[in-house]
Amino acid sequence: MTAVRRLLLALFLAPLPLAASPAPEAAPESGAGPGRAGIASAHHLATEAGHEVLAAGGNAFDAAVAVAMALAVVEPASSGIGGGGFFLLRRASDGREVFVDARETAPAAVSLDWFLDDEGKPDRDRSVNGPLSAGIPGQPAGLAWLAEHYGKLPLETSLAPAIRLAREGFPVDDKYRALMGYRVEVLRRWRSSARQFLDAGEIPEEGHVIRQPDLARTIERLARDGHDGFYDGPVARRLVTGVNEAGGNWTLDDLAGYRVKEREPLVIEYRDHRIVTSPPPSSGGVVIAQALNILRRWDLPALDPAPRSHLLAEALRRGYRDRGIYLGDPDFVEMPLRKLLSADYAAGLRASILLDKATPSAMLPGTDNAPRGTDTTHFSVIDAEGNLVAATLSVNLPYGSGFVVPGTGVLLNNEMDDFALVPDAPNAYGLIGREANAPEPGKRMLSSMTPTFVIGEGRTAVIGTPGGSRIITMVLLGLLEVIDGKDAQAVVSARRIHHQYLPDAISAEQGALDEATIAALQEMGHTVNVGERDWGNMQVVIWNHADGSVEAASDPRWSSGRAEVREP
Ligand code: GLY
Repeated sequence: MTAVRRLLLALFLAPLPLAASPAPEAAPESGAGPGRAGIASAHHLATEAGHEVLAAGGNAFDAAVAVAMALAVVEPASSGIGGGGFFLLRRASDGREVFVDARETAPAAVSLDWFLDDEGKPDRDRSVNGPLSAGIPGQPAGLAWLAEHYGKLPLETSLAPAIRLAREGFPVDDKYRALMGYRVEVLRRWRSSARQFLDAGEIPEEGHVIRQPDLARTIERLARDGHDGFYDGPVARRLVTGVNEAGGNWTLDDLAGYRVKEREPLVIEYRDHRIVTSPPPSSGGVVIAQALNILRRWDLPALDPAPRSHLLAEALRRGYRDRGIYLGDPDFVEMPLRKLLSADYAAGLRASILLDKATPSAMLPGTDNAPRGTDTTHFSVIDAEGNLVAATLSVNLPYGSGFVVPGTGVLLNNEMDDFALVPDAPNAYGLIGREANAPEPGKRMLSSMTPTFVIGEGRTAVIGTPGGSRIITMVLLGLLEVIDGKDAQAVVSARRIHHQYLPDAISAEQGALDEATIAALQEMGHTVNVGERDWGNMQVVIWNHADGSVEAASDPRWSSGRAEVREP
C-alpha cells in the first residue's frame, strides 16, 4: 500500500476524541412497562408456551421458565434439563439486574485422565460423547430459582406446557433432522437415547411425533418438588446409577451440592447506552467490553466496510486472546478483570493496531485455547411491566453427550469439553490459559454464552444467540446494530463476520463482505474465509420507550423460530 493511500486510510478511519463523554444513565423508569409482551425463541412451540404462561398471570420470569423447559423438550439438540445456561434478568419494579448462573459443574471425581486414551493421548470421543463428557446439570436449578425468587406462578403452572409437549409429543422439523445428522451415530450407542430421539434407529422423517414420557415424569417431579425434585430423591438416584453404569463417575453429593449462583452483570457504557451483559464464567461480557474499549476511539458507523471490518477483527483478536489466557470460573480463579476492563489497558491494545495491516495472531503472546462448542439456544422476553429476560442455554454440541440416562428422559450435556482438557504439551498450548479453565471438582467451565441487554434513552433491547465461539462476536455486532438504530428484524438478519484470534482468519457469511472489501482486507494481510454455512440463531426483542411499542424478531437462518408480541 502506498504512503498516500495509507494516509488517506488513516484519515478515513474517522477517529473520535479519546475523551468521549460518559454515557448518561439511561434506563426505563421503574414500573412504566410497555403494556404488551414480546417473546423471541428458537421454536414456535416454546414462544407459545411463554405467552400461555403470561396469559395465566405470569411475568417474564415465569415465561422464561416455560420457554426454557419447552425448548428442552422440542429443541433437544440445543439445550435441556440435562444442560445449563445463563439467565440475565431485569426486574421492572426496582430496576434490579442480576445474572443467574446455572452453568454445569465438574463432578467431584473429575480427572484429566478421563479424557485420555490408553496411550495417554487426548481422546476426543471421551470428551464429547457419553457420560464422562457431561457436567452436573444446572438448568433445573436455574428454573426452580427463577420461579422461587422472581416469578409469580408455581412451577406446576410454568412447567405445564413443557410436560404436555413431552407427553403428547411434537413433530420433527428440518432443524431437528439437520442437527441430528451430526450426532445420529452417537445416539445409536445407547438404547435409551435411540428410543427417545430416533425412529427405529434412523433419523425420523419430518412430521414424525417425538414423545418423551420419561422426560415428562422427570419434569413433573421438578414441578412438584422444586429444586430437590431433580437434585435429590428418585430422579437423582436414577441419574447417578445410570451415569455410573454407562462408565461415568457421579455421586449423589455432586447433585445435592449443585447451587445456582447469582452474579453482578457486567455493565459497559458505550455511545449513550448501557450494555448489561454476562460476567465470568461467561467470557462474553469481558471480550465485548475489551473490544468496545478498543473501538470507542473510532466512529464505526462512519467507516467503510473494509476499515470497519479490519478494526472489528483486530479488537476481537485481542479480546479473544485474553479470553484464553485469563478467564475461568470466578469462584476458582483470580482474574485480572480491573486490568482487562480498564481504558488504559484498551489504549495499549489499541496502540498495537496498525490501521492498514493485520496483526498476525502469532505475533501476540498467547495460547491456542480457542473457544469451542457449536450448539446452544437463546430466547428473549420483555413483559407488559417491563421485566426483561435474556437467556442462553446449552447442552454444548448438538444433542449434547448423546446419552439419555435410562428411566429419566434426561439427555446429558457434553459441556466438559468447554474446559481446557488437553493435558500434555502445556507449553505448546499455553500453560496459563489451561490453568484458568482447567477442570476441578465443582468448577464451572468457561462459556461463550452472552445474554445481553442494550438500554438507551429511547429503546431497550434484549439480545443473544447460540453459535459456540462465534456467540461473542455475534452479540457484539448485534448490539452495535441496535445502537445504530436498526429494528429487531434488521438486527437478526444482518450478515456476520467473525475473528477469534485463532484460527487467524476473518470468517464471513456469504454476502457479509463484498468482493472489494475482501480484496482490501486481504491486502492488509487478513485471511478471509467466506463460509458455505450461515451461523447463529439470534432472538431479539426491542421495547420502544416513546410509544410503548414492542418488536420481536427471530433469526431467519432457521425457520423453526418464532417471535411474537401480544397484548395482555
Ligand atoms: N457450550 C457453549 C458455551 O457455553 O460457550
